Order: sequence, then structure tokens, then C-alpha cells
Amino acid sequence: MQKTIAINKKDFELLLTSDEIQRNIVRIAEEINNDYAGKNIHFICVLKGAFMFASKLMTSINLPCSISFIRISSYSGTSSSGKIKTIMGLNAHLAGKHVIVLEDIVDTGTTITWLIGEIEKHNPADISIATLCFKKSIYNGPVHIKYAGFEISNRFVAGFGMDYEEYGRTLKNIYRIKS
Ligand code: IMP
Ligand code: MG
Repeated sequence: MQKTIAINKKDFELLLTSDEIQRNIVRIAEEINNDYAGKNIHFICVLKGAFMFASKLMTSINLPCSISFIRISSYSGTSSSGKIKTIMGLNAHLAGKHVIVLEDIVDTGTTITWLIGEIEKHNPADISIATLCFKKSIYNGPVHIKYAGFEISNRFVAGFGMDYEEYGRTLKNIYRIKS
């Protein structure tokens, strides 16, 4: 397996293998299947980064569920701009639903905090968050991150849906930028 890789001319090193990623996604799905037994779930996949996580996760959910997509952006290059841009908004009927937001990565928490506020306006029954990667040490948000695939350090990562300047999303492993 390739331990180092160039993504858009920057050097990255292997952080999480595809096997580890698949295993942890199945583990999250099992937790959700237990926690939501007897309920219907509505997933909201945050594009673009969470598309691989969402599609893999859903194949292991054995409860009735639906999914919608929202596209927002807060990153430019390798750091968060702090400002959220909505590119494709919420259009599902969320009132009374058990909503689970699917994120590729929770970093400072700016994005997820803003998004939870938007979802709450639609009066769902409850909202929880599932993220593939969690930069816990710099997370600064008020909402609890219920499901996390991996707690990772505060280094920029790409692969398995996550990009560096739009490159690297299709990689099956996750790589972190070399220091
Ligand atoms: P936050 O608002 O600071 O929590 O940043 C969250 C969003 O920024 C995520 O949904 C990602 O799209 C993006 N992001 C944060 N860290 C990384 C990273 O290391 N690689 C790629 N995208 C990231
Ligand atoms: Mg994202």
C-alpha cells in the first residue's frame, strides 16, 4: 500500500486504511441500529465530503430511513474560513423526524453548529451527529458529537470523500498532510 502520495502537488502520508475505515463505519451503523431501534431515521448528508461515508454507512443500516443532501462550504485551501456558504439548501420535510447529520469531518465545529441551528428551525423530533473524522482537540462547539469514526489530530486530511483543493476525494484511504 502506498504510504505517501501527492495530492494536487502537496505531500500526504497514510493515516487510515480503507479496511479501518470500513470497519469503523460498520461500527457506527451498528450503534445507530441499536440506538434508533423501532424508529425511522432521516439522514442529512453534508456534501461534498460526506458522500462516501454516507453511502457506505447506509448499506449497514437495517432500520427504515430516508436521506437528503445539503451542500455547504466553509473551507478554503487547508484552513477553515469561518464563514458558511450554502450552495444547496435543506428541502426535506424534517418536522417530527429523527435526524442524523452525516459529516466527513468535524473540525472547529463552526459548520455543524450553524447547520444544527438551521435544522432546528424545521422542528425535528431530535438531531444527532455522525462524523467520519473528529478533530476533538480543537472542537469548540456546543453540540455533542454522538458518533465519530476516528478521533484525529489537528492536521489537514484528504481521501475517502475529503478533498484538498477538490483533489483526493476518490482515494479509498485517508491521508494527512506531511508536516
Ligand atoms: P469546521 O466548520 O471548522 O468544523 O470545519 C468543518 C468542515 O471543513 C468539514 O465539513 C470539512 O468539509 C472541512 N474540513 C475540516 N477539516 C478538514 C480536513 O482536514 N480536510 C478536508 N476538509 C476539512
Ligand atoms: Mg464538509
